[in-house]
Amino acid sequence: MRVLIIGTGYVGLNTGVMLAYLGNEVTCIDVNAEKIKLLQAGIAPFYEPHLEEMFALAKDKISFTDNYEAAQIGEKDVIFIAVGTPSLPDGSANLEYVRQAAESIAEKLSDKFTVVVNKSTVPIGSGNWVGAIIKTHYEKTHGKKANGLFAVVSNPEFLKQGAALHDSLYPDRVVIGSENEHGLDVLRELFGPVLRQDFEAPACLPRPEGLKEVPLLACDLTSAEVIKYAANAFLALKISYINEIARLTAKVGADAQMVAKGIGLDNRIGPRFLNPGIGWGGSCFGKDTAALVATAREYQLEMPIVQAARDVNYGQRSWVVDALQEQLKILKGRRVALLGFSFKPETDDLRDAPSLDIARLLIQRGAIVRAHDPIALDNARRQYPDMGVTYCQEVEDALDEAEAIVLVTEWPYYRTLNWSKIPPVVLVDGRNYLDDKALRALGFTVIGVGR
Ligand code: UGA
Repeated sequence: MRVLIIGTGYVGLNTGVMLAYLGNEVTCIDVNAEKIKLLQAGIAPFYEPHLEEMFALAKDKISFTDNYEAAQIGEKDVIFIAVGTPSLPDGSANLEYVRQAAESIAEKLSDKFTVVVNKSTVPIGSGNWVGAIIKTHYEKTHGKKANGLFAVVSNPEFLKQGAALHDSLYPDRVVIGSENEHGLDVLRELFGPVLRQDFEAPACLPRPEGLKEVPLLACDLTSAEVIKYAANAFLALKISYINEIARLTAKVGADAQMVAKGIGLDNRIGPRFLNPGIGWGGSCFGKDTAALVATAREYQLEMPIVQAARDVNYGQRSWVVDALQEQLKILKGRRVALLGFSFKPETDDLRDAPSLDIARLLIQRGAIVRAHDPIALDNARRQYPDMGVTYCQEVEDALDEAEAIVLVTEWPYYRTLNWSKIPPVVLVDGRNYLDDKALRALGFTVIGVGR
C-alpha cells in the first residue's frame, strides 16, 4: 500500500520503517528539515536499537520529505498522524500539531478513498475532532462535500522505547477503532503480515519463539482511544503499586523484590512492571496519566487511583534524596555521583527522567552532582546546560571522590564496573539492579528500594 506518515518521532519513524520493511511504499514527512536531512542520509535522529539496520533493509521502500507537495497526499491509501502532543501546563495535551496535520491532509485529499489513522496518543474524542477538521477544511478548500472520501481510524501505539522495532513487528495486539468498516478493512490488510506473522523476520530482530499470530481488536473509535490511556495508566499504577508496597517492606523488614516475585507468579497479576525502584519516567506515563485525569475532570469525574499512582511515582524521586540525607546527615558540599541519566536503559531520551528531579533536589540541598550516562550525555548537555550538574564522559570522573553514588538508570554497563576498585561509600541502588551482597562485602552501604 501507499502510506504517508506525518511526524518522524519514535512512533512515526518506527511505524514507517516497519511498514516499509513489510513491503509498503512509505513516505515520511516532518516539518523539521534538519531531521529530514539526517533521515535522508540514513541516520537515525535518536538512539533506538536496530533502527539504522532496519533503515538499511527498508531503504528502497521509504522516503523522507519536509514538503507537503512532495508527499503526494492524494495518492496515499493510508495516512498516519504521528505528530507530538506535548502536555500543556494543566496536564491536557496540546493538539496544535494534530490540527495542522489534519488541515494539510484535507487540503490535498483527492477523490480516492483515504484512511486517516490517529497514531499519536490523542485525548479521548480526538478522532471525531480530526474527522470534523478534515471534513470542514476539505469543504472550504475544495468547495464540495467530503462524504465517503476518507475514514478516521484510531490505531494506538503500544511500543516501548528501546524495543520499538521489536514491539512494532511483534506486538502483543493490534487495536483499530472506527465506525467506518471500509477503513477498518484497509488497516486489517495493511497489518496483515504482522497479524499472521508470515513475513520473513529480519536477522537483527528474530521472531519470538512460538509467536504464530497477533490478535487484532477492532472496535469503535472512542474505545480504541481509551484503550491507549487505560493501558498506560494501568502499567503506571502497577509500578506505583509495587513502589508503595516497597515503602512498607522497607519499614517492616521484608524484601519488596521477593514480594513482587510472589505476587507476580499469580497469572492474574503477572510478573512484569513490578520492579520496585525510582519509578517511571519518559514521555508517556507521566503525560498520559495527567491527560487522563484532565479529561475525566472535563466530565466532572475524579480519578483518585490514577492520581495516587502519580503522587507515589514522583515521591520516589524525593525518597532518594531523603535516603541520602539520612545516611550522610549533611548534603551541603557532598559529592554525589549519578549513574544513568536517561529515563530508562537503551534510550538517550531525558523526558521526565527521574535523574533530572533527583539532581535538582540534591543541588537545592547543596550537594555537588556529577552524572554519567552511556549515551544520554549529549542530550543532557544540550537540553540542560545550566542545571548545575557536571556531566562526566567517563564513569571514573563521575565517581572521583564521590561520597555517595546513586544508580538511577539500570544500564547493564554499570554491572560490569570493577566495583572493587571504587572506594566504598553510600550507594542508593534505585533499581535494585546491582549485586548488593557483593557490594556490601566490599564495604559499600547499599540502600535498595524496599529491602
Ligand atoms: C510506555 C509503554 O510501556 C508502551 O506500551 C507505550 O506504547 C509507551 O509508553 C507510549 O505510550 O508511547 P515507554 O515509556 O517507552 O513505554 O517505556 P517503558 O518500558 O514502559 O518504561 C516506562 C518507565 O517505567 C521507565 O522509566 C521505566 O524505568 C519504568 N519502569 C518500568 C519501572 O519503574 N518499573 C518497572 O517495573 C517497569
